[in-house]
Amino acid sequence: MTKKRVLSGVQPTGNLHIGNYLGAIRNWVEIQPNYDNFFCVVDLHAITVPHDPKTLAQNTYNMAALYLACGIDLNHSTIFVQSHVTAHSELTWLLNCLTPLNWLERMIQFKEKAVKQGENVSAGLLDYPVLMAADILLYDADQVPVGEDQKQHLELTRNIAVRVNDKFGSEQNPIFKVPEPMIRKEGARVMSLADGTKKMSKSDSSQLSRINLLDTPDVIKKKIKKCKTDPIMGLSFADDRPECNNLLGLYTIFSDQNKEAVADECADMGWGKFKPLLTDSIISALEPIQNKYNEIMTDKTYLDSVLKEGQEKAESVANKTLGRVKDGLGYLPSF
Ligand code: AMP
Ligand code: TRP
Repeated sequence: MTKKRVLSGVQPTGNLHIGNYLGAIRNWVEIQPNYDNFFCVVDLHAITVPHDPKTLAQNTYNMAALYLACGIDLNHSTIFVQSHVTAHSELTWLLNCLTPLNWLERMIQFKEKAVKQGENVSAGLLDYPVLMAADILLYDADQVPVGEDQKQHLELTRNIAVRVNDKFGSEQNPIFKVPEPMIRKEGARVMSLADGTKKMSKSDSSQLSRINLLDTPDVIKKKIKKCKTDPIMGLSFADDRPECNNLLGLYTIFSDQNKEAVADECADMGWGKFKPLLTDSIISALEPIQNKYNEIMTDKTYLDSVLKEGQEKAESVANKTLGRVKDGLGYLPSF
């Protein structure tokens, strides 16, 4: 039996934080033996907000190295850079012309990012989810493992696929495979260390709001020490204690325990006792990733070869799908 296909990606903006890790990449690593996987560094998405051309390439490299450091295994998975496979841009144009504008204007992430940016919003920011749909549909992905915040974009991808199939495909020969989101409950939404009601985010202006995968032990210690807590004695997974919930959740995952065990262990604890435990669990979970990352970054030739092979594999799948779409839309075949 052939394995089902998985596609996912992360933007090469700044540094990966533990929200990205727990919401996305850790799950990729866990599921990869059971699927045929494509993981891309979505550098075309990275310029939907103002970007620095001096750091784009380096950030793209860093992200690919982090995929490997986190445990993406080339025996199961293909790693590639989105802009290296031109079919992504081309399919985006075709889908643009088939996507109603008001579907895009409804996207929560667009509205949030647009407000943050004020006047200077690019057409690309509005179009971001169409590019994401192209990423997914080009690979006939069955499953798309992401964090909770991407659910609406996946719903849009499905709507676009169904619409194109209805208009230009047939029941026996659909143009697109309609993908399913794969969202794990645990870690799907890691909250800010500065405010337990806000998502941990790369774009938060405060470094203290997030722990990055490459933070040193000292920095992690300092961030946990300063993170927001509440004045209630005894720790519990209570809905009305957002910070406590978030920190216990992180401890559960990083110490590799279940919720009940952690609830028991921490029921009579104060923050002074809990914080060092949490700090140690994060430091020791991140240490092997950081060591591997440093090792990979010393060997640029290796990383180049991974991305070159990734590009070739991705192109062979994506170009076939693009051809199918252009046929379906009635284009004159190219020479
Ligand atoms: P982004 O940082 O927007 O490129 O997101 C990359 C991946 O990380 C996506 O799958 C997101 O759903 C996931 N992600 C981002 N922030 C969080 C968070 N705070 N908690 C859980 N997952 C997240
Ligand atoms: N929009 C996603 C995010 O911010 C990143 C992304 C781009 C993606 N293309 C994708 C995720 C395709 C999954 C599949 O997290």
